[in-house]
Amino acid sequence: MSEGQQQGSRLDPWVDSYAKRTEGMKVSAIRALFSVATRPEVVSLAGGMPNLAALPMDDVGDMIGRLIKEQGEVALQYGSGQGVTKLREQICEVMKLSGIEGHPDDVVVTTGSQSALDLVTRLFCDPGDVVLVEAPSYVGALGVFSAFQCEVVHVYTDEGGLNPEALDEAIKDVVAQGKKPKLIYTIPSFQNPLGITQSPERRKQVLEVALKHKVMVLEDDPYCMLGFDGVVPRAIRADDAEGVIYLGSFSKSIASGLRVGWALAPHGVREKLTLASESSVLSPSNFSQMTVSEYLSTQPWDQQLKAFREMYRERRDVLIGAMEELLPAGCTWTVPEGGFFSWVTLPGGINTTTMLPKATANLVAYVPGNGFYVDDEQGSDAMRVSYCFPPLDRIPEGVRRLAATIEAEQELIETFGPSATKSRKSGPSTPSPEIP
Ligand SMILES: Cc1ncc(COP(=O)(O)O)c(C=O)c1O
Repeated sequence: MSEGQQQGSRLDPWVDSYAKRTEGMKVSAIRALFSVATRPEVVSLAGGMPNLAALPMDDVGDMIGRLIKEQGEVALQYGSGQGVTKLREQICEVMKLSGIEGHPDDVVVTTGSQSALDLVTRLFCDPGDVVLVEAPSYVGALGVFSAFQCEVVHVYTDEGGLNPEALDEAIKDVVAQGKKPKLIYTIPSFQNPLGITQSPERRKQVLEVALKHKVMVLEDDPYCMLGFDGVVPRAIRADDAEGVIYLGSFSKSIASGLRVGWALAPHGVREKLTLASESSVLSPSNFSQMTVSEYLSTQPWDQQLKAFREMYRERRDVLIGAMEELLPAGCTWTVPEGGFFSWVTLPGGINTTTMLPKATANLVAYVPGNGFYVDDEQGSDAMRVSYCFPPLDRIPEGVRRLAATIEAEQELIETFGPSATKSRKSGPSTPSPEIP
């Protein structure tokens, strides 16, 4: 049998024609299970979608109607590759809340910050270049890095976030191996999936290490407006304009379906970023950008943010309360001060990937921890649970089912020993819109 025949499949006769980089693009087996998780009887603590219940749809609808009536010919036309000027100015105002003094010329509007992640990686990384990331990190970013054939190095991350000493060591190691560290990717506020936030001190230390080694920081900050105390953490970018590319998004603070995010980049990088964006999408959607711009100028965004924060805080409280009451002894979890996620670690050799089918059979879903690492082994005793999306009154029931699943797994392990079944993941999967 020829190599082509071995690799080919009746379903996809083009299998031998794909570029090498597609080897990094994998659909995980976990994703298949999530088709089950979206069934109404399942309580999904897996989904990371923002909850739009608190968005005033009638007002937004009226606003969009007016926008099309009054400016339809612009809104529905191609636009500039860098993005609508007025929105870029407004974005600079928004970033001031994070302590950032940016110039609209240095902002590139993108189709969500996911697209900015893709463009920045395209600009900086050749195959084999190294990206240093938190352990664990956002699955959508891991998917991008792997699609560009980067080597991802997870750096020890403690309860304060990315550990600066470990970062320093990791960069030295990478260089000693003759490899090029190109980006330090970090989510300093309400991290996905850990739910933790770097202190101001920690941010400064991370920046110092990056500057010392001349490695660009890629600061991904989509959750910064969702701190439950209403305080927007000072961004790393606030303290350095040349060594940090800052990514922002309106997905969590207005609406993810509009797909409006941005990158604030050092001036030279911005030019290349715009060219890369133009070659990728010509121009980001004028309609979406103008909708966000109108929203910011005509709607009470402050109140909206307050409503989102209160909604998510209430949900966080219900989740944490239920876990305290119901999860078996030995389980530990992070208590997020904002954002959507808590990271739960299980005792006694439980493998959360192996346990997932049993959980879904018990009508509850979560994301296994190893989905947030590039290799199979790490995170196998942990899971991400999110409180952002399931109906509030279903969260305790979800935790009850999760607790029952964990207890049954513990019994199994006590009787037969830790499962011989290894999880069979290889590399990060591409992100799924329902499980960001
Ligand atoms: C850490 C992080 N970065 C980036 C994104 C992508 O967001 P968007 O493309 O909607 O702006 C997400 C989405 O969940 C995320 O969690």
